[in-house]
Amino acid sequence: MSDGHHEDMTTDEPPPVASIDDPHMREAVGNPRRVENAIALNMVLGIAGVAVFGAAYVQNWKPWALGVSLGLGLFFLGFGLSAWGKYLMPQGPFSEARHALHSAKAEREAISAALVERTGVVIRRRKMLGGLLGTGLGIFGIVAVFPLLRSLGPLPGLTLTKTNWRRGSLLVDADGRAIHRDTLDPGGIVTVFPAGYESDIQSQAVDQTVLVRAQTTDLVTENGRGNWAPEGYVAYSKLCTHAGCPVGLYERQLRLLVCPCHQSMFRIDDGAVPEFGPAPRPLPQLPLYIDSLGFLRAQAPYDQPVGPGYWERTTT
Ligand code: FES
Repeated sequence: MSDGHHEDMTTDEPPPVASIDDPHMREAVGNPRRVENAIALNMVLGIAGVAVFGAAYVQNWKPWALGVSLGLGLFFLGFGLSAWGKYLMPQGPFSEARHALHSAKAEREAISAALVERTGVVIRRRKMLGGLLGTGLGIFGIVAVFPLLRSLGPLPGLTLTKTNWRRGSLLVDADGRAIHRDTLDPGGIVTVFPAGYESDIQSQAVDQTVLVRAQTTDLVTENGRGNWAPEGYVAYSKLCTHAGCPVGLYERQLRLLVCPCHQSMFRIDDGAVPEFGPAPRPLPQLPLYIDSLGFLRAQAPYDQPVGPGYWERTTT
């Protein structure tokens, strides 16, 4: 037991047993006998009230009689009970001593040291694991770039702006046969490549050129192209300027090259200006000449990039 002051109540000693002579165990009043009698009187009155309530209930008295009798009975019983607790019970204050709950100082220091040591180990390991994880992710990121780049296909190099057509390039078909002035009749069409590149898939993609024999006489498709189409042989890039599909269809009556993808139409007589469809610009024309042996050759490379003209969207 303590004397009521707030002091450290923990102790390593077993809690003391309360003595009957402890001042805190005494009643709060000087004459407990008299208080006991008063409380007894309240109890009796309470009992009487509850008894009257029982009788009134059996006799089916008025509701107010039930209420008053029950109320008085509970009041006196409650008052007596409260007075009993207040005046006749030991007054305290009471505080219960308890055992010390903490560990001994040596144990606490040992655990602290162990925690510090383990924490240090954990952090060191985490640094190592974090480093390994970062390294792994970094290498994975680098490795992942290779298939990503590879899936984009070979680098375009200069093919976006240049083809393998050169001054004097011999026109050959897909089988490598040179195109002679007698190869096509008017209305005839063939896909040609610069000799030496007809089997190269990469080159085929950009070099493919559609050769049409429109007539037997020279054809002037535009001002300044007076000798580009000798004996009616006219050559245009086969790459559609819309999305790069091969413009492989020829409508002989209307003299139109037609792209099968979105039906862009190019008239061969006037520089392959699009007459219909989404193609934004004409097909580039390859200037031709017929050599001394009667074979068709390129006067010069294309004078502009072939295919979809991202660099020249507004040109019509
Ligand atoms: S690719 Fe030729 S019209 Fe679209």
